[in-house]
Amino acid sequence: MEKINVHVKVRPGQYTIYIGHNILDTVINTITEHMYGNRYAVITDSIVEKFYGENFVHKMEDHNLDVLLFAFPAGELYKTRETKQMLDDQLLSNRFGRDSAIIALGGGVVGDVAGFVAATFMRGIPYIQIPTTVIAQADSSIGGKTAVDYPQGKNLIGAFHHPRSVFIDTKTLSTLDERNYKSGFTEIIKHGLIRDKDLFTYFTKNREYIMSRNHNKHALTITGLMKRNCGIKNEIVREDEKEQNIRKILNYGHTIGHAVEHLSGYRLLHGEAIAIGIVVEAFFSWKLGFCSYEDFKTQYEIIRKMDLPYRIPAEITNNDIIQTMYSDKKAREMKPEFVLLKQIGQTVIFEGGKTTTPLEEDTLTSLIEEFRKTI
Ligand SMILES: NC(=O)c1ccc[n+]([C@@H]2O[C@H](COP(=O)([O-])OP(=O)(O)OC[C@H]3O[C@@H](n4cnc5c(N)ncnc54)[C@H](O)[C@@H]3O)[C@@H](O)[C@H]2O)c1
Ligand SMILES: [Zn+2]
Repeated sequence: MEKINVHVKVRPGQYTIYIGHNILDTVINTITEHMYGNRYAVITDSIVEKFYGENFVHKMEDHNLDVLLFAFPAGELYKTRETKQMLDDQLLSNRFGRDSAIIALGGGVVGDVAGFVAATFMRGIPYIQIPTTVIAQADSSIGGKTAVDYPQGKNLIGAFHHPRSVFIDTKTLSTLDERNYKSGFTEIIKHGLIRDKDLFTYFTKNREYIMSRNHNKHALTITGLMKRNCGIKNEIVREDEKEQNIRKILNYGHTIGHAVEHLSGYRLLHGEAIAIGIVVEAFFSWKLGFCSYEDFKTQYEIIRKMDLPYRIPAEITNNDIIQTMYSDKKAREMKPEFVLLKQIGQTVIFEGGKTTTPLEEDTLTSLIEEFRKTI
C-alpha cells in the first residue's frame, strides 16, 4: 500500500492518502488502529451498498467496531439538501454524537454529501473517504470540498472540510460500468495537461493496461497512475486551499464543460462533458496564440482515442453556451473566466500572476463558431 502525506493549513493539519489494489480489508485494520471515532456511520448509496457497503460494515463489526450503515438512492439527483437533512436526522435519531466519525464509501456524490454532513454535524466531526469511482479516487476525495446541489445550481451550498484519511482501493473500480470508468480519466488527463507532462505521458503510454481491467498489468499501472495523479492534485490544493488563484487551474476544460453538461440536461456524464471542454479550451489556447497546433492536436487526439465525445452536441446552440457561462458562479464581473494552456503540462499565467482570463462575448462567439466549423 502506497502512502501520500497531505499537509493542510486547517484541521486536521495533516492526513494520509493510502493507495493500493485490493486493500479494503486492511483499511479496517487501519481504522481500528487510528480510532477516528467511538462510533462509525458508513454513508453510501444504494448501488455501492450492495457491492461493498454491507460487506464492509459486517467486517467492521467483526473487528468489534460500533457501526451503522446509511444508504441513500444513487445518482446526482440525490445530491441534495433533502438527502443531507435525512442523513442528519438519521444520525440524530440513532444517537450519534460528537465522538462519532463518518465513513464516506462511494463515488463523488457520496463523498460530497457525506463530507458535508461531517462538516456540520455537531459543528464538525471527523470523516474518512473511501472513494469507489475514477472521478472520486482521482479528484473529489482530495481537497476538502464538500457540497450539495440546489435547484439554482450545482454545489451551491457546502463547506471546506478535509478528511482524516483517504483510502483508494483501485480494485473497487472493477465493478464500475464502462461509461463511468472511461470518462473519469478525463480528470487525470486534465491534471497532466495543467501541471505534469510526465503524468500525461505515463497515461498515454500505459493506456491499454489502464483501460482493460482484466489485463495482468492493470493493477500495477492503475495504482501507479493514481499515486502520481493524487500527488499532483494534492500539490495544487496545498498551494491554494481556498481557490484564490492557483487552484483555479483545476478548472481547465470546465468553463465550457460545465455549460455543456448543464445544457445536455446531465445526459452527458461529468467526465464526458469535460472531455468536450478540454478539446474546446485547447482550441481556444491554440487560436489565441498561447499554445502550438501540435499541443492542441495532442489533446484532441487523446480524447478521440479514448472514444470520448469531443464535439459540442448539435442541439446545443452557441448562444445557449454563452448564456449558461454568464450565469455560472465562476463568472466574475459577469465575464466567464478561462484557464488556457501554454504547453502540455503548463497553463498560461496572465498579467498580475493570474491563472485565469476573462473572454469577451464577441471573442467567445467567434471562437466557438470556428471550433464547430473546424472539428
Ligand atoms: N469535491 C470535489 O472536489 C469534486 C470534484 C469532482 C467532482 N465532484 C462531484 O462528484 C460527483 C461525480 O462523482 P462520480 O462520477 O463518482 O458520480 P457518482 O457518485 O454518482 O457515481 C457514479 C455511479 O457509479 C456508481 N458506483 C460508484 N462506485 C461504484 C463501484 N465501485 N462499482 C459500481 N458502481 C459504482 C454510483 O452508485 C453511481 O451510480 C459530482 O457531483 C461532482 O460535482 C466533486
Ligand atoms: Zn471536474
